Amino acid sequence: MKLPLQDKVTIVTGASSGIGRGSAMVFAANGAKVVVADIDEEGGKKTVEEIRNRGGTAVWVRTDVSSARDARNCVETAVKEFGRLDCLFSNAGFNPSGTVVDTTEELWDRLIDVNLKGMYLMCKYAIPEMKKAGRGSIVCTASVDGVLAIKNEAAYIATKGGVISLVKAMALDHAPDNVRVNCVLPGAIRTPLYVKFLEENPGMDDQAGGHAMGRIGEPEEVGEVVMFLLSDAPSFVTGAIIPVDGGYSAAKVGAG
Ligand SMILES: NC(=O)c1ccc[n+]([C@@H]2O[C@H](COP(=O)([O-])OP(=O)(O)OC[C@H]3O[C@@H](n4cnc5c(N)ncnc54)[C@H](O)[C@@H]3O)[C@@H](O)[C@H]2O)c1
Repeated sequence: MKLPLQDKVTIVTGASSGIGRGSAMVFAANGAKVVVADIDEEGGKKTVEEIRNRGGTAVWVRTDVSSARDARNCVETAVKEFGRLDCLFSNAGFNPSGTVVDTTEELWDRLIDVNLKGMYLMCKYAIPEMKKAGRGSIVCTASVDGVLAIKNEAAYIATKGGVISLVKAMALDHAPDNVRVNCVLPGAIRTPLYVKFLEENPGMDDQAGGHAMGRIGEPEEVGEVVMFLLSDAPSFVTGAIIPVDGGYSAAKVGAG
């Protein structure tokens, strides 16, 4: 039986940790040839090793998604290694706390550069290769915070709102090229980013209670949804903004 991502050359950014790593493992187990892209070399090489140990295919490419040179090199490496590019999971991001008053201009600029410009750059170089292949599928990671604000996350929330709008714009522009572009909105997912968020916001308990399912999610649970979107199965789905949040965004605030 053909696996959902059989032989699909798939770049995953932020693949050294958390959602990116968990997703890369899911993709590789389902047939993808994975390009592991991140700034964290140690974590990235560990992801590659784990994929190979389980019989999968992966290569490491050090990539700062905010750098045009790195983004271009990442795409070029995928094509050089595997002959083409089929899929991109554009997922790298970080999540510092703060109001606009607390947020320094340097931090604001860096967040926009990584969380938003990084999506633009990866897609800018990936889409022409997908056009050459005659088809492609891209998924970007935003956040439920991009549609439902929480306190003390102003700059992060702005970047995630931007990602949602960018996905819709790219979906329109590249539908004629047979390139689908979709977006996932994770709720609280058990990753180092989430642990740091709890440390920086001591008043905020584990977010499980805010999720209808009464628990937070695991990285692989995001990966499974992204895998479906990257695969050929949802052939009529583009520009979709899909929560992966255990029901968090289904509830009116305070509705329990
Ligand atoms: N964990 C959650 O609860 C949650 C919720 C909603 C959205 N998200 C989003 O999911 C994505 C992944 O987050 P995570 O929770 O897995 O975090 P994580 O910190 O575990 O992983 C993020 C990865 O991105 C990498 N990265 C950071 N800056 C980079 C850059 N400039 N270039 C390349 N790689 C870079 C880091 O090195 C790290 O490996 C992020 O976009 C985050 O905003 C996470």
